[in-house]
Amino acid sequence: MMSKTFAYSAFIIPNSSFAPGALAVNRSFVGIITTMRIRPARRIVGRVRLPGDKSISHRAAIIASLASGRSSITNFATGADCAATVSCLKALGVSIQENEGKLMIEGAGPRGLRAPATDLDCGNSGSTMRMLAGVLSGQDFETTLTGDQSLSARPMSRVIEPLELMGARVRSNDGRPPLMIAGTSALTAIDYDLPVPSAQVKSCILLAALHASGRTVITERQGVLRDHTERMLQWFGSSATRTTDNTTCTVSINGPVHLSAREVDVPGDVSSAAFFVAAASVLPDSDLRVEGVGLNPTRIGFIQQMRSMGAQIEVGVETERSNEPVGSIRVQGGMKNPSGMESHSIAGNLISQLIDELPLLAVVGTQMPGGIEIRNASELRFKESDRIALTVRNLRAMGANVEEFDDGLRVNCGQLQGARIEPHGDHRIAMAFTVAALIAEGTSEVVNSDCVGVSFPEFFSLLESIIER
Ligand code: S3P
Repeated sequence: MMSKTFAYSAFIIPNSSFAPGALAVNRSFVGIITTMRIRPARRIVGRVRLPGDKSISHRAAIIASLASGRSSITNFATGADCAATVSCLKALGVSIQENEGKLMIEGAGPRGLRAPATDLDCGNSGSTMRMLAGVLSGQDFETTLTGDQSLSARPMSRVIEPLELMGARVRSNDGRPPLMIAGTSALTAIDYDLPVPSAQVKSCILLAALHASGRTVITERQGVLRDHTERMLQWFGSSATRTTDNTTCTVSINGPVHLSAREVDVPGDVSSAAFFVAAASVLPDSDLRVEGVGLNPTRIGFIQQMRSMGAQIEVGVETERSNEPVGSIRVQGGMKNPSGMESHSIAGNLISQLIDELPLLAVVGTQMPGGIEIRNASELRFKESDRIALTVRNLRAMGANVEEFDDGLRVNCGQLQGARIEPHGDHRIAMAFTVAALIAEGTSEVVNSDCVGVSFPEFFSLLESIIER
């Protein structure tokens, strides 16, 4: 049986102990690889509260570090990605105390960051690198941002171009990390149409705009992007505004901006909830309640899509915390396929609202009588892995009939078979295919399963607590 603190990889999994035999999920260690063996589940039953939202936690830590005064952040995300952001902010001279999920941050104020002694390691986290690139562009010193093998292969021209337009100088490895940023306190505001639909790019520009003189305007034309940065900036006292019409969303901010410390209470992560919601939806007789979860309208595209495919999901916003809607999700198992044999299609402007849940939706698609087709999702190839290729490969390993396109995939309905799943270090692939394993025939193995610690270290232990076999 594994020991409580053992984790032989970059990510520590706290509080994850398993009692093999009684459980549907158990783990074994082969060399340095942690493999999770997963047996099918009958249903999902229970109530869960989830660790803080990853996207909101990144923004809260960064913005509190730039504010004047002491901020506190409760229910801060527990994954390695947000830990990378905190460690970079500390290296930039910000005083951050951490105690049981609560951060106390002495904001450095608009000009208080100092040059780090070494390169800043962003680990696996694209959000950390892209958002800090924006912050560092407005500082009068040079910094180098590095990342792990996966992050080092991800495109950064999308942030380099707008930051250079604002006056920063950025060198890179042909548009990939590392990024060497020569910042300036004399940034200028820009009017920018996002060429790629990316909330990280929008956030990068907004964080640079805090230090730029004039009005920065950013236009989203390819679907609505998550708006946590705008909301968090407003919470800390800025005048960031967001206006939406049918086809476009415009975000603007007048710089320079002075931010004042606030308390932030981070809602549970709805993207982490998605794995449990999907499992409960496809396993008949399930009954799951997720409480205290973020229900920002720009993040619940997955729930709307699941409902349109017949999932029995109720969502109730109960309150607002730190300028974000929060509430609960109730799932009753068994898809009521209202559309019969119709094939479900996810494409166009919808993609940006469920981008992180697309591999999971492909898994759910195997349970839909007409299958599912996902298009216009080429951005998936630039995530922590090429998520189109890996989703296709792992679905095929489980016996699914899948067609791969440049910008998506199509999967037919069919019974999945237990298989060996290779997530290639991608946390969302590991979790999506754990859900696939729960509905498969036979036992599956998820290789290198510790990678879930990037966003959701408690994934397996919480899942275990709500599985019935
Ligand atoms: C995120 C935006 C998305 C998403 C990522 C988190 C954010 O990335 O995939 O997990 O917090 O802004 P892109 O901006 O690259 O689409």
